[in-house]
Amino acid sequence: MPNQTEGDPLFQDQDPVFARKELLHVGHVPEEERIVGRDDEIQAVANEVGAITRGDPPNNVMIYGKTGTGKSLISRHVATRARNAGQSNEVACDVLYIDCSEANTETRATRQLALTLKEHTDYEREIPLRGVGTMEYYQHVWNILEEHFDAAIVILDEIDKLDNSNILMQLSRAREAQKTDVYLGVIGISNKVQYKENLDERIESSFGHRELFFHPYDAAQLREIMENRRDAFQPEVLSDGTIELCAALAAKKHGDARKAIEILKEAGELARRQSDIPVTEEHINDAQEVAEVNRIEELTSGATAHAKLALYALASRIITGDRSTYKTREIYERYVGICDVVAVDPVTENGLYRQLKEQAFLGVIESEKTGGGRSQGSYLLHRLVTDPKHIIKAVRRDASLEELPTHSQLEKYGGGTQPRDADLSSFSN
Ligand SMILES: Nc1ncnc2c1ncn2[C@@H]1O[C@H](COP(=O)(O)OP(=O)(O)OP(=O)(O)O)[C@@H](O)[C@H]1O
Ligand SMILES: [Mg+2]
Repeated sequence: MPNQTEGDPLFQDQDPVFARKELLHVGHVPEEERIVGRDDEIQAVANEVGAITRGDPPNNVMIYGKTGTGKSLISRHVATRARNAGQSNEVACDVLYIDCSEANTETRATRQLALTLKEHTDYEREIPLRGVGTMEYYQHVWNILEEHFDAAIVILDEIDKLDNSNILMQLSRAREAQKTDVYLGVIGISNKVQYKENLDERIESSFGHRELFFHPYDAAQLREIMENRRDAFQPEVLSDGTIELCAALAAKKHGDARKAIEILKEAGELARRQSDIPVTEEHINDAQEVAEVNRIEELTSGATAHAKLALYALASRIITGDRSTYKTREIYERYVGICDVVAVDPVTENGLYRQLKEQAFLGVIESEKTGGGRSQGSYLLHRLVTDPKHIIKAVRRDASLEELPTHSQLEKYGGGTQPRDADLSSFSN
């Protein structure tokens, strides 16, 4: 039996499409030369944490921005460079990265910190995986930091997924509370604007921090990001204009680099499955459709039931009505109708407005202020960024919302002016 796969003819065929597919993987951190158009952001993050490299106390920083705008990438990149720069100044600096969507409680996050620190050092004490409390994990963290480091940068990615913000307090007060002499800089990352508001209230005074906002990429930047990963593909697979088209589509939609890369990868997969090389415009268009449904599902998966019902209400009005934009009040009427049918207590109109705002921040909808004439004041108009049937599909996949009403049941709630044949249930799969 061959003990090396490379010796087995079954696996010897070269991949006809991908040469270095790992370059297109979601978690892949590209080298510096492949990072595009984020010089200012890199500098801004460096300005906040950079003091660490000179043995001075850093600032904490919160980074906000829509999905796929390079927040995780830039944070890791700058932190790693700071560690290296620190080391050449004889400042022993460590970088601790916590994905709070996995480590979503204070106990999990501190355990992860302790385990990562242990991994980075020769700390000999056992760190139990269970059966101990948060305080014990903190104790290990302070011990290891004291023994081995002068400074550390802690990246708390997707920080809004943490069930409370104690860890921010503990980390920022560690010196004051004489837990450790090590300088700690926290980089918190979130794509939720609501988190910012809550955070301000809870930890205003103790977690002093700066805020940075990352903006979506334009078509030229997306093109360069993808060009820099062209070597993920075999030489003849991408024809002229493929990346251009992909960038144009992604920029028009959301300026999301992750989606742009995903579309390119999915188009490659389609071409391979159909044994149809090079990648064509049709592959890109099909890939974009697949990516869009996935995107909506991802974005709405973390949303509350009320946010989903709000989206459903807007999608339902668009499908049954003759406009693509609706006022908060109009969406609210239909939302109340849906709640009525599914026997859920509705939130207030203002509560619904907050849900819509959050969805606008995520990029699922767009909201625009419009003047309603001198006497009426201004009001907000909301529209879906995507095809309403994607929303209906995504919301219907939520098992807890199985019994959603059909379009005709909703007519009496701020009804559509032009009922169409298309019943909402026809979009359910
Ligand atoms: N400026 C850039 N240059 C090169 N690649 C980039 C750039 N920005 C983002 N990418 C790539 O796009 C993908 C998404 O970036 P990243 O994970 O940093 O986004 P994010 O802002 O953290 O999004 P989310 O809020 O969804 O976590 C990654 O594969 C990353 O390598
Ligand atoms: Mg991220």
